[in-house]
Amino acid sequence: MNETATPSFPKHLLDFQDWRRTQVESLLETAQMMQEVLARPVKKVPALTGFTVATVFFEPSTRTRISFELAARRMSADVVSFSGAVSSTTKGETYRDTLRTLEQMGIDAYILRTDAAGVPHQAHRWLHKPVINAGDGWRAHPTQALLDAFTLREKLGDLEGKKIAIVGDILHSRVARSNAELLPMLGAKVVACGPATLLPGSLPGTTLTTNLKEALAEADAVMALRLQKERMDKGLLPSLPEYIAGYQITEERLRWARPQAPLLHPGPMNRDVELEGTLADSPRSLVERQVANGQAVRMAVLYHVLV
Ligand code: NCD
Repeated sequence: MNETATPSFPKHLLDFQDWRRTQVESLLETAQMMQEVLARPVKKVPALTGFTVATVFFEPSTRTRISFELAARRMSADVVSFSGAVSSTTKGETYRDTLRTLEQMGIDAYILRTDAAGVPHQAHRWLHKPVINAGDGWRAHPTQALLDAFTLREKLGDLEGKKIAIVGDILHSRVARSNAELLPMLGAKVVACGPATLLPGSLPGTTLTTNLKEALAEADAVMALRLQKERMDKGLLPSLPEYIAGYQITEERLRWARPQAPLLHPGPMNRDVELEGTLADSPRSLVERQVANGQAVRMAVLYHVLV
């Protein structure tokens, strides 16, 4: 594949299977330009005038949904929102009917979050317009990984050879999976760490370990993840105090990483569980920066899949 050619972009973002490094890099450059738009007093450009995007969320969300909706509005797109609470036993047909209904109303792009893995891929086949995955079950959350990569590059520069430690409930985390796909594509080494019960058997693109000290050693950045209790079968977590004793990111443990290694968290955060509460507000924390960057990255994604 010719890596130097000017990239054209896949007209969807389901995961990174169809994306090449040059395309990702150029998307991150667009996000940088969007950041400049967001720094203006009037944060609006006409790029998506006349387009209508739908956020279709079958699972709760605060930052992802608002971030996408603002991203679309800042580029002058019209936005409609659909929230569906579905049980995990309700399968394909419901999603399909909902999406096909929206399709009849002239939606130009779908931003989709589901509790079941693979639905955005199916939607991509059902619909004739771009589909952006805003999180499907345990599987993927590509815009979160893009904003993490953007934030990491802003702080660390080129990610080539950088060690990124991801700590927490790796097993249930679509954020970990998408980062495991994207960060190595940008040259980073990813180490994923958690208790054995919360690690998958294997995670391509990463080294897995239960040893926190080993994971944090020489790490250039540390990402803490929430314990996703809503996705856990009973019995995976011995007890919260035991988890905290072994895996909570504390100021003291952060000393195992490189000096000044930043701390990231995709949110929602459980202070004093996956990380020492005060660390989230310390100068090491990039948590708020991640949220701010999320909007610029989602503007770039919408722009590239629609225009
Ligand atoms: C994550 C998600 O929903 O996958 N949150 C987010 O989008 N920022 C992580 C989580 O729920 O723990």
